[in-house]
Amino acid sequence: MTLSDHPASTPEHHPGHSPLLRAARGLPVPHTPVWFMRQAGRSLPEYRALREGVAMLTACRTPELVTEITLQPVRRHGVDAAILFSDIVVPVQAVGLDVEIQPGVGPVVAQPVRERADLDRLPELHPDMVPDVAEAVRALVAELGPTPLIGFAGAPFTLASYLVEGGPSKNHERTKALMHGDPALWHDLCARLAQISAAFLQVQVDAGASAVQLFDSWAGNLSRRDYLAHVEPHSRAVLEQLATHAPDVPRIHFGVGTGELLLDMAQAGADVIGVDCRVGLRDAVARTQGRYAVQGNLDPALLFAPWEALEGEIRRIVDEGQAAPGHIFNLGHGVLPDTDADVLTRVVALVHRLSQH
Ligand code: CP3
Repeated sequence: MTLSDHPASTPEHHPGHSPLLRAARGLPVPHTPVWFMRQAGRSLPEYRALREGVAMLTACRTPELVTEITLQPVRRHGVDAAILFSDIVVPVQAVGLDVEIQPGVGPVVAQPVRERADLDRLPELHPDMVPDVAEAVRALVAELGPTPLIGFAGAPFTLASYLVEGGPSKNHERTKALMHGDPALWHDLCARLAQISAAFLQVQVDAGASAVQLFDSWAGNLSRRDYLAHVEPHSRAVLEQLATHAPDVPRIHFGVGTGELLLDMAQAGADVIGVDCRVGLRDAVARTQGRYAVQGNLDPALLFAPWEALEGEIRRIVDEGQAAPGHIFNLGHGVLPDTDADVLTRVVALVHRLSQH
């Protein structure tokens, strides 16, 4: 019997009433909800065991593995949400682009996308290209019962950066050269990626995901001027399409080093603004005019600090989060692979205890 088949499963036990969704909507919560970006991954021995000999993108396209890997951190840590085990390049691979994820490197694109003719290798995404993703989400939602599942996609700029550079990049020089050198092609590329991201999110929401996060991980490398002119309209298109399609599904918008962009990213169509560890939550609330729930923002490196030091930081963040209409506790970026999983479990328990109402 799954949790959702349980006789006590009334609408009150629906994920819609969960602390995560309530916080995202700015409603009172029994405790501050907490989950971790990259909570599924190499910090967990049970993950490393399942991934043995299986390529990353193969794992992402195998519903049984996706389901099990997604559930692992929920069982182990008692986090307030699951996030679908997938990757931002899954939908571009699904439309036919030749991409792989190399261990310790990240996404590598065989033939980078740099010319107009390259757009032909990037057709629109239709739901029947990712039936495995819908299947995994349905299985997860049945298994998770009241615990919400977060769906996600990469935002057009961050996706474009991998496609144009051909892999991870520190300076994004080719991406910025295309953005400024051929703005028409840049906009057409981002419009196509926006279609792909929005369709990928819709598949997840239609299958039962109860919140979504749009990852624009590398947007913080842009000036505000460039962000507004060349990036924001495409992220807005993704978020607006989802808002129209599923108005009740909260939208979280996250990037790294985005202190200067927080208000613009929130206004692009988010309910929750993701904050990395470079900006205090109180400042993030002020910069977003107190109008948005916030998510964050413990430095993932501090999970390696002595517990007393870590505890002090967690107390400060839980306290600062009170300034926001809603606070979802998270890291400022993903869990680092060498993190001690037991420390993550202790963080969840402490956040819950400190914020108990
Ligand atoms: O957060 C979660 O638990 C859900 C899973 C998730 C993964 N990728 C799994 C993954 C999510 C949300 C992502 C999104 C993603 N992928 C982003 C945006 C989030 C962020 O971190 O900013 C980006 C930029 C990518 C691209 C990508 N995929 C990178 C840079 C890497 C790391 C490469 C490495 O080995 O260091 C990946 C691989 C990846 N995606 C792993 C996981 C668990 C590691 C694969 C492994 O186990 O070897």
